[in-house]
Amino acid sequence: MLLTTAIDYTNGSPHIGHAYEKVLADVMARYQRLRGNPVYFLTGVDQHGQKVEQTAAKEGVSPEAYVEKVTARFTALWEKIGVHYDGWAATTDPRHKACVQKILTDLKDQGQLYKKAYNGFYSVRQEQFLTDRDRDAEGNFGPEWGEVVEIQEENWYFKLSDHTAWLADFLEKNDVILPQFRKAELMNALSRNSGIDLCISRPKERLRWGIEFPFDPDYVTYVWFDALINYVSFVGYGGLDASLPDFDATWNDVVHVIGKDIMVPAHGIYWYCMLHAMGFRDEQMPTLLVHGWWNIRGEKMSKTLGNVVNPDQLADTFGVDALRYYLCRDIYTGKDSDFDVERLVMLFNTELANNLGNLCNRALNMSQRFTEGILHCHLPLEEEDLGVQHSLVESLNLYRESMDQYDIARALEAINRHVVNCNVYAERMKPWEMNKNPENKARVATVLYHLAESVALCAVMLSPVLPDAAVKLAAQIDLPGLLDKKLDELVWGLLPNGHAIEKPQPVFPRIVPVAPDA
Ligand code: MSP
Repeated sequence: MLLTTAIDYTNGSPHIGHAYEKVLADVMARYQRLRGNPVYFLTGVDQHGQKVEQTAAKEGVSPEAYVEKVTARFTALWEKIGVHYDGWAATTDPRHKACVQKILTDLKDQGQLYKKAYNGFYSVRQEQFLTDRDRDAEGNFGPEWGEVVEIQEENWYFKLSDHTAWLADFLEKNDVILPQFRKAELMNALSRNSGIDLCISRPKERLRWGIEFPFDPDYVTYVWFDALINYVSFVGYGGLDASLPDFDATWNDVVHVIGKDIMVPAHGIYWYCMLHAMGFRDEQMPTLLVHGWWNIRGEKMSKTLGNVVNPDQLADTFGVDALRYYLCRDIYTGKDSDFDVERLVMLFNTELANNLGNLCNRALNMSQRFTEGILHCHLPLEEEDLGVQHSLVESLNLYRESMDQYDIARALEAINRHVVNCNVYAERMKPWEMNKNPENKARVATVLYHLAESVALCAVMLSPVLPDAAVKLAAQIDLPGLLDKKLDELVWGLLPNGHAIEKPQPVFPRIVPVAPDA
């Protein structure tokens, strides 16, 4: 599988939306590996365009220096929060430039590009030409377009309209848009868009910060045309650079993880049509996994409102586990959610510090005290023991089903349900009471075995979301190769009789919320 995210604009600092998308993709990549599937995870930064040029000018630095500084903030954040990618797409990379230029040349040779003069309205904020269809009911260009100016210029166009009929038919026949409900939105947009070609150049007198047209040096490439190509350029398209992966081996089962704001028109229309023009067959077309947005009390996050959530600070304050867990746990993939620090603390404290923390502590601590740290499952089993095993199987099934559908929140709910069941079991069995009578030794060991085995299996299931915590949990369980197990190998009874476990170390220290006036 080739898994990619959107590449983030380098015209500011990474915010929680960027972090969410990268964590979502990182979790899915790790899950695919847990499934035993090879995966190549590509992410990166979108460094060209007018906004970058303008911000750099405001700061009195060159665009090169500016994007370098901002890119470093992104890479440092991914390192900090455990986003492990295989390929890094930075659009100023010369290997990317070469690929964009090759694609432009090929498309021109195939008669897919033409030059034409156009007189019309242009949105400076969105860096695109507007048509009458972009006007609101009163006939004005709404505030979403920012400053709108009238300009006349000659530009290069891509014959998008040659491909829209194919696209409508392709989308009708194939389920490449996830979640499903987004498809209707795309089909609607497509029917409004047909017959329009895409302006893919900007004259250098207006914008210099872009990839030069190989056959018309007065122009640079429109930022979206350049950016979308990252998905192929950084996995070796055209075989232009030996340092990149082999394209044919990497471009399969492609999933682009993107936010809902960039499905229409960029990914859902332009990108599919570009790929079609480049000769990609239907079965090579990517799937779009379209996620929702994190808002703040129902409102969009924005610099102007001053409500932007900084993931770097959150990781420092609450820890990487709490941040990653929250980003996966409190949003259903595809839907929007409200970012709420109190819920971040509550979910961490309840589900990890209390529920899972308690389970680990009980399993390991009592094993040390009552069975010298040696696990043993004695037969015959009682109904309650079988109940724990059944709960595990149910959780595993739900986990797999949910993760296969990119539904991480439900997968985490499934793990948590099993943990809760284990704690109920412990409270019902009361091994600490049982242990007072030496005759119960075998029963005590069996109960503790069930708790420890559950910790081992939960550690593996949690590993895509909380890789560091999983390592710490696995170290205490001390079973060689536990985290190398594949999902299909997760069956009851991983821990052999006689296995010695380690002493418990707290993995999820409770977050003590600081009062706002403290
Ligand atoms: N550079 C383009 C993408 C080009 S892909 C060929 C871009 N960049 S962005 O920095 O504005 O956004 C990057 C990703 O972050 C997008 O998928 C976008 O949807 C996502 N998010 C931005 N804000 C978000 C939230 N508040 N919540 C969730 N994701 C959001 O678009």
